[in-house]
Amino acid sequence: MDRMLRPVHRWIWGDSERRVRKLLAFAEVEADGGRDILRASEVTPDPLLRRLYLAHAIDELHHADLFRERGAALLQARPARATPLSAGWLPSGDHGIDDLRVEDEPDESLLAFLHVAEKAAAGRFTIYRDVVQDDPSTRAVFEEILRDEVFHMNYTYTQLARVSPERYRRRVWRARASRLWKRYLRVAASLAGLIGTLMLTIQYFIVLPPFAWFAKRAERRESRGWTPIPRDRDRSPTSQY
Ligand SMILES: [Fe+2]
Ligand SMILES: [Fe+2]
Repeated sequence: MDRMLRPVHRWIWGDSERRVRKLLAFAEVEADGGRDILRASEVTPDPLLRRLYLAHAIDELHHADLFRERGAALLQARPARATPLSAGWLPSGDHGIDDLRVEDEPDESLLAFLHVAEKAAAGRFTIYRDVVQDDPSTRAVFEEILRDEVFHMNYTYTQLARVSPERYRRRVWRARASRLWKRYLRVAASLAGLIGTLMLTIQYFIVLPPFAWFAKRAERRESRGWTPIPRDRDRSPTSQY
């Protein structure tokens, strides 16, 4: 899928503003993931995993620094008259362990989840490294991070096979399915938003005009100014109408 979308990635990374925005967004995602994995190292009962998670968290926080520094350098290199970056829309990263409560997850499912996320990140970063040929410094950042992501992808799989030798394959499949499901929900939600906007626009231009026309016609029939009320109506009004 990502390979098919390569021209889209090339287009996204081809623009310097989008490139900066992507790098800064990745910095956030990596830092977020690093904090979660750090938490995982605090709560795991397994001493080997504790050490590995800690090294992993340090890597992710280092990735955040690398992305932030590269983004900042590109930002500074922008011409002074360039328009300011709009902070509104930031692309989501791939790799953060979003909506996962580390404390509630046993090591098996965390490892399976991390393995799938790291694999996706490694695939994405390979593409990004290839499409930023024109920018050797950004390319070098991806190159360095990619090496770590491949290590993360491999150690999570090896450790998953160690802590859950009978069911590790099923765990990975389940993590993959849940990732796909979340992606589907994300796409479906934005599609629903689009359809909603379309329906409201259609209503505005097709359903509303007749009512506006009737209201205008009724307005023309109304007499101007105050309307006298019959003399015998002496009850005080209870409503505006
Ligand atoms: Fe990372
Ligand atoms: Fe990673």
